Amino acid sequence: MLAHAPSSLGADGDGSGILQDEITFQLIAGGAVWLLVLGILVAIVLRQRRRRSAGPPQPEDQVGHRWIWIGGVVLPLIVLTAVLGWSAHSFSAFAGGGDRPVLTVEVIAHRWWWEVRYLGEFEDAVTANELVLPVGQPLELKLRTDDVIHAFWVPELDRKIDVIPGEEHSLHLVADKPGTYRGECVEFCGLQHARMAFRVTAVAPDQFADWLARETGKAEEPDTAAERRGKQVFLSSTCAACHTIRGAGAAGQVGPDLTHLATRASIAAETLPNTRGGLSGWISDPQGIKRGVHMPRSQLPGDQLQDLVTYLESLR
Ligand code: CUA
Repeated sequence: MLAHAPSSLGADGDGSGILQDEITFQLIAGGAVWLLVLGILVAIVLRQRRRRSAGPPQPEDQVGHRWIWIGGVVLPLIVLTAVLGWSAHSFSAFAGGGDRPVLTVEVIAHRWWWEVRYLGEFEDAVTANELVLPVGQPLELKLRTDDVIHAFWVPELDRKIDVIPGEEHSLHLVADKPGTYRGECVEFCGLQHARMAFRVTAVAPDQFADWLARETGKAEEPDTAAERRGKQVFLSSTCAACHTIRGAGAAGQVGPDLTHLATRASIAAETLPNTRGGLSGWISDPQGIKRGVHMPRSQLPGDQLQDLVTYLESLR
């Protein structure tokens, strides 16, 4: 749904900055070795030509042997030691973790969506497929999976982290600039692996505080008659069995928390825009859009579907 494809070469985070330095260094080192080998090759060809035109072959000189030592032992030792040293430096920079995180967020991978739970005093703030963070301030992500192996990657911000059953991995995520970044699941996890994206939005710290305060709050009461009818549809149909809307009496734990659904830009892990059309299509035929998800097809009559979508759109 995001306009641009993510690139790990456009570093906007501390982690991706380390990786970009590593890639740049290896590219320069590899390029220099390539140019050197090419130069030597050209020199050998020219030398052979000169020799041939100079008459019968000379007795073997020591220069060739010297080149074997230089090119076969000394040069690889220098280059590989430099690459190893640089890589060790990158690894230790990752291990250092950078500044102290301002907040801890639990990220739980499900087939095929991401649950995001802010911890501590903000434990009521639960979103799906969307992580908001304050610019320049690290969040500690605690990553785990509810089912199979997944992998969490926001190329513009940090490295990939595998999410393995029975284990918890942590990542200090920092965004240096405000912006919206696309993240992907990068470990094949089944039928809808390709539709398991998410977005990370970096905003100014005061904006983040406002966002977090709103996400921590309960859902607002419906204002209009259509919204009230839609809430009733939600509570009386199968929706409430799987989804939570805090403050509305729905506490299902299977699918994403919908308490502030209307604040999100997309649904179904970046599969559809969070619009009236997107919501209606998704509720009517989730299996047609993303086969294999837990969400069943709904049999709601048209007017009830309209009211339900009106209610969902009011969940700001
Ligand atoms: Cu989750 Cu691929």
